[in-house]
Amino acid sequence: MGQTERILSVDSKKELEIGLNQSIAELVVTTMMAQNFHWNVTGMAFGPLHELFQKIYEDHFLAQDELAERIKAIGGHANGELGKMVKDSKVLESDGKSDDRSMIKMLAEAETTVAATLSGVAAQAEKSGDLLTQDLAITRGQVHEKFAWLLNSHLR
Ligand SMILES: [Fe+2]
Repeated sequence: MGQTERILSVDSKKELEIGLNQSIAELVVTTMMAQNFHWNVTGMAFGPLHELFQKIYEDHFLAQDELAERIKAIGGHANGELGKMVKDSKVLESDGKSDDRSMIKMLAEAETTVAATLSGVAAQAEKSGDLLTQDLAITRGQVHEKFAWLLNSHLR
């Protein structure tokens, strides 16, 4: 058992498990959204957008694993069921049949949502004295806010 698991109360552990699983669910839907847009984007900015969307889904795929393994490190259960993730996620799926501007807008909104959920997890973790989960949630939240900024900058 890791040191964090030893100091966490049963309630705190459960709360963090729920928050981290919620972050992963939203991240998974956002990952697929970025890949969907990578495939289907069109227009004069095709090249850079095709690349940016790829950079996003590659980052997010690795982040799913980091967050899930943090749940395991504190003794929880990492949900790996796609159907449940889609159901739980506040980020909604897209059919990928939108113009480039709408894609950017949707993905930026998704990044903002994931950042907000992670910020909530960081606050929970701080309250529970779990500084290591707090650090991970903050670091990842910052990455998602940065992607939101990168995306939104196309629209200003
Ligand atoms: Fe590709």
